Amino acid sequence: MKYLIANWKQNKGLFDISSWLDLYFDNIEGIDISKVKVIICPPFTLINELVVNLSQRDHLFIEIGVQNISKYPSGPHTGEVGFEQLPEQVKWVIIGHSERRIDGEDNESINEKIRLSLENSKIPIVCFSEIDQYNEVSDEFSSQVFFAIEPLSAISTMGVGKPETIDNIKKVYDNVLSENFIYGGSVDDKDITNYINEPYIKGFLVGGASLDPIKFAEITRKIAQ
Ligand code: 13P
Repeated sequence: MKYLIANWKQNKGLFDISSWLDLYFDNIEGIDISKVKVIICPPFTLINELVVNLSQRDHLFIEIGVQNISKYPSGPHTGEVGFEQLPEQVKWVIIGHSERRIDGEDNESINEKIRLSLENSKIPIVCFSEIDQYNEVSDEFSSQVFFAIEPLSAISTMGVGKPETIDNIKKVYDNVLSENFIYGGSVDDKDITNYINEPYIKGFLVGGASLDPIKFAEITRKIAQ
């Protein structure tokens, strides 16, 4: 079983959900869904629409995640969204994405968000782009989270958007004390073939290519082969 996580970032609106799902499901017809767990992380504003659309289609094998979470349970925190406000269908939380670290997300807040996620029975996907950031995650969480290595130079919208080499990913993996090891950075329907045969890569965090349901379906199909 591999994990395929779509990070839609700050993209898409209410009226995109239905057509995205229509095209996606049309294009994954016949695949073995026991081989891949698909997790969609839309912006907060689209979570309910996604929950409703997925339940109407009886495609509950797709799970839902969020791209960030408040480090506070609730209260006077303007602009924040906390666990108490999420529908129960949300099971995953991306934490510490490099695009948030650049905006000032620090290690203390990342560890607090991981702690709150676990307390609320959500699975954290903790992103890091250098091993120092990985080392700042408290050891107590190591066995309970997914770690996603996303080198800055590999993210399609930052740096040069150059997919990381297998050798470099393996070097990072050798320093990570977790079997839940995910790669992200310019993964698309073609490059995915470079990575799928690496047994230690348990899944993929996909930005740009997840916005296109046909490309994302093709990635799903290749992983499920
Ligand atoms: P791209 O797939 O667009 O390079 O984005 C990677 C990423 O940041 C996913 O979280």
